Amino acid sequence: MAMKGKVCVTGAGGFIASWVVKLLLSRDYIVHGTVREPSDAKYAHLTKFDKANENLQLFKADLLDYQSLRTAIAGCDGVFHVACPVPSTTSSNPETEVIGPAVKGTHNVLEACVEAKIKRVVVVSSVAAVFSNPSWPRSRVMDESCWSDTEHCRASKDWYFLAKTKAESEALEFGRRCGLDVVTICPTLVIGPVLQPTVNASTLVLLRILKEGSESMENRQRMLVDVRDVAEALILLYEKREAEGRYICTAHSIETRELVDALKSKYPDYSYPKKLSEWKAEPISLSSEKLQRLGWKYRPLEETLADAVQSFKDAGMLE
Ligand SMILES: NC(=O)c1ccc[n+]([C@@H]2O[C@H](COP(=O)([O-])OP(=O)(O)OC[C@H]3O[C@@H](n4cnc5c(N)ncnc54)[C@H](OP(=O)(O)O)[C@@H]3O)[C@@H](O)[C@H]2O)c1
Repeated sequence: MAMKGKVCVTGAGGFIASWVVKLLLSRDYIVHGTVREPSDAKYAHLTKFDKANENLQLFKADLLDYQSLRTAIAGCDGVFHVACPVPSTTSSNPETEVIGPAVKGTHNVLEACVEAKIKRVVVVSSVAAVFSNPSWPRSRVMDESCWSDTEHCRASKDWYFLAKTKAESEALEFGRRCGLDVVTICPTLVIGPVLQPTVNASTLVLLRILKEGSESMENRQRMLVDVRDVAEALILLYEKREAEGRYICTAHSIETRELVDALKSKYPDYSYPKKLSEWKAEPISLSSEKLQRLGWKYRPLEETLADAVQSFKDAGMLE
């Protein structure tokens, strides 16, 4: 099969990026993956992927170090900008821990893309940049025209939401201003099988349900999407010439209670929350129609949960 060209994936060792790298290699791309500490054992899984020996090169890069990004991106045709801090608790120093790397980091990646004459960059944003918008009517389906309100995020101290909203809107604006083809994707909570040995924030949501045995857990709406379907979406957005602007990426909307019941019926022996609080908020509705019109499909939730649990067992994350 002919080679598809050379692409860079930032934060290659993370949960989503690992699947993106694996999929790109399986489709005969040459991949430059950026990691912060190439010698760290937590990235060893990347070098074991099929075709990694021949087609994957890891680069040491930090989002706040322009030169390191420039070196990794040079010579590539496209970039998947996936890296961003994803905190699982509230940050004590949000500017340094989240906002700086997300906003300035994305800006650095885009500058390096312009310098390397990159044909398209796919930036991973989040629905955190979509749905924190109190003026959007609750009954109206949220599509790509809905943006989180940065003042609201700031007032609620939702620093990750603020960071993703600023990073994404500035990325799209940068693209328009500099003539760089920037496409963004906004996934909901991403779950599924892990390739990496460490626990990321969204995987922790499932692990808490399976093993924490908490006295009480909040019953809330969970909008979920499989990590493999997100990786497919990123590549679709890179390859489809007609892709433009932003894309919401979501598959299933479910209450925590239903999620717990689905897991319990299949795996009765784990330590589930003992009680779920009553759920009071009105559900919100998000649409991935724009992405589906490009040909994106998602798998059933049962498959995602089964494969996720199996991977947690294999990785010793349920012990
Ligand atoms: N998982 C979700 O539910 C979800 C939903 C919507 C959007 N997203 C977005 O998807 C992307 C990937 O998230 P994930 O779930 O895969 O999280 P993850 O496993 O925590 O991956 C985040 C990656 O970002 C890298 N990173 C963080 N700060 C960096 C910095 N200053 N310089 C270089 N790299 C840095 C990390 O590198 P190290 O390995 O060196 O720490 C890691 O590889 C993020 O942009 C996130 O906002 C995630």
